[in-house]
Amino acid sequence: MSEVRKLIAGNWKMHTTLAEARELARGIVQGLGADPQAEVAVAPPYTALAAVAEVVAGTPVNLAAQDVFWEEKGAFTGAISPVMLVDVGCSQVIIGHSERRQHFGETDATVNRKVKAALKAGLGPIVCVGETLAEREAGHTLQVVERQVKEGLAGLPADAAGRLVIAYEPVWAIGTGRTATPAQAQEVHAFIRTLLPELAGTPRVRILYGGSVTPDNAAALLAEPDIDGALVGGASLKAASFLAIIAAAG
Ligand code: PGA
Repeated sequence: MSEVRKLIAGNWKMHTTLAEARELARGIVQGLGADPQAEVAVAPPYTALAAVAEVVAGTPVNLAAQDVFWEEKGAFTGAISPVMLVDVGCSQVIIGHSERRQHFGETDATVNRKVKAALKAGLGPIVCVGETLAEREAGHTLQVVERQVKEGLAGLPADAAGRLVIAYEPVWAIGTGRTATPAQAQEVHAFIRTLLPELAGTPRVRILYGGSVTPDNAAALLAEPDIDGALVGGASLKAASFLAIIAAAG
């Protein structure tokens, strides 16, 4: 088992109306109790951040956003700044999710700008990396992940380690029901850890696994020595299954 407290983060993606978001957040808070087995974060859509902030205030559940822009303010229609996320109550933000890379033109360079801006504002970035099925089948998994980590996380301040989280999410496992085996995930997690010597101090950078994590497979994944938690999509949309994954971290 790793020596850091595990983090279980729920990525709600483009789901939940305000009423649904409040209900889901309440279900998580109520089921969690005061002393959960892991650190917990939820990432509702922007429109529900303020409502969920009210529900999770004073509880162990941290609020995260699903993306952020790198500028502080200005004429950037549709964008949300790190300062705004802090203002609404976020302590963390997901950056570079594969769906952002695939549908919204996110690159390692834009990921890097967002990570730096988030850190500067006091947010903890959860930076997603991972290979496509074609890249895995071509034997390029480690190469792709190395590029994403080195370029996405270039030039970070040395004190970033305590707040930075990396999520390894093989694209072929996201939303497909096809999870990486614990051994496949562990191999990439251990490799990622070697890539960032400048961030190798204490506390260590947490590396989450994401991609079809469920209550059934969570315990085996979380038992691997370099898997420090999970980024959960589909199974985070029901309080019961999200709570069961958190329980599996204990
Ligand atoms: P999934 O999504 O758990 O639905 O596969 C994970 C993610 O995209 O973060």
